[in-house]
Amino acid sequence: MLGIIGGSGLDCIAELEIESRLAVTTPYGQPSAPLAAGRLHGKRVIFLPRHGETHSIAPHRINYRANLWALHAQGVRDVVAVCAVGGINPVMSTGTLLVPDQIIDYTSSRESTFFDGVDHPLTHVDFTLPFNMPLRQRLIQAGKVSGHQLHDGGTYGATQGPRLETAAEINRMERDGADVVGMTGMPEAVLARELQLGYAMLAVVINAAAGRGDNATGISMEAAHAAAEIAMTKVRAVLNVLA
Ligand code: HPA
Repeated sequence: MLGIIGGSGLDCIAELEIESRLAVTTPYGQPSAPLAAGRLHGKRVIFLPRHGETHSIAPHRINYRANLWALHAQGVRDVVAVCAVGGINPVMSTGTLLVPDQIIDYTSSRESTFFDGVDHPLTHVDFTLPFNMPLRQRLIQAGKVSGHQLHDGGTYGATQGPRLETAAEINRMERDGADVVGMTGMPEAVLARELQLGYAMLAVVINAAAGRGDNATGISMEAAHAAAEIAMTKVRAVLNVLA
């Protein structure tokens, strides 16, 4: 079954015919919200808003372990993570949808493993390719069918937040090879890998990163939210085809 984790701008999916709301408790505590189980275009889907139903949970406070555990426990095997991002590479202009193929983790102090040697024995999972390739291809195909071209590939840089980055930090990230920047892709992606879930990201560029494009001297979050609202219409269309 497909799980969808919604990010900023996608706290619900109107087209999802919800059959039940599951308040799940996990060994790691509560997920961000009850899981919304239902049907999207006839196919069974479970939806979880990463920042909670009222978008109140900051990126560094999200209980990523509970979220992934809860989805897995309910029978989810593939997860599409919708993530709002800032564009670093000029190709990643506002409104671009991409399916990244790599991650750089700049986060700190987050609970980022199930395998901490306490609850589960220490295990070093392979993370060479952090995203599930077949699921990435399904997303890209769904983009084609829905008429919304998805950029194939790109490196996602995960920052700690909740503050936005400095222009110098973005310059450094660009030198590192990051194409886009967001705050939630890690540890979400690695926790999915540890549970052997297929995980792919549908990233949505909602602003030029700090110091870039129109944001030479600052980022307007109002403008970013407006861009997110427009872009999420496309995201919904892609998800409808994918499901
Ligand atoms: N930086 C970090 N996270 C983000 C951004 C950004 O510019 N835009 C959306 N999420």
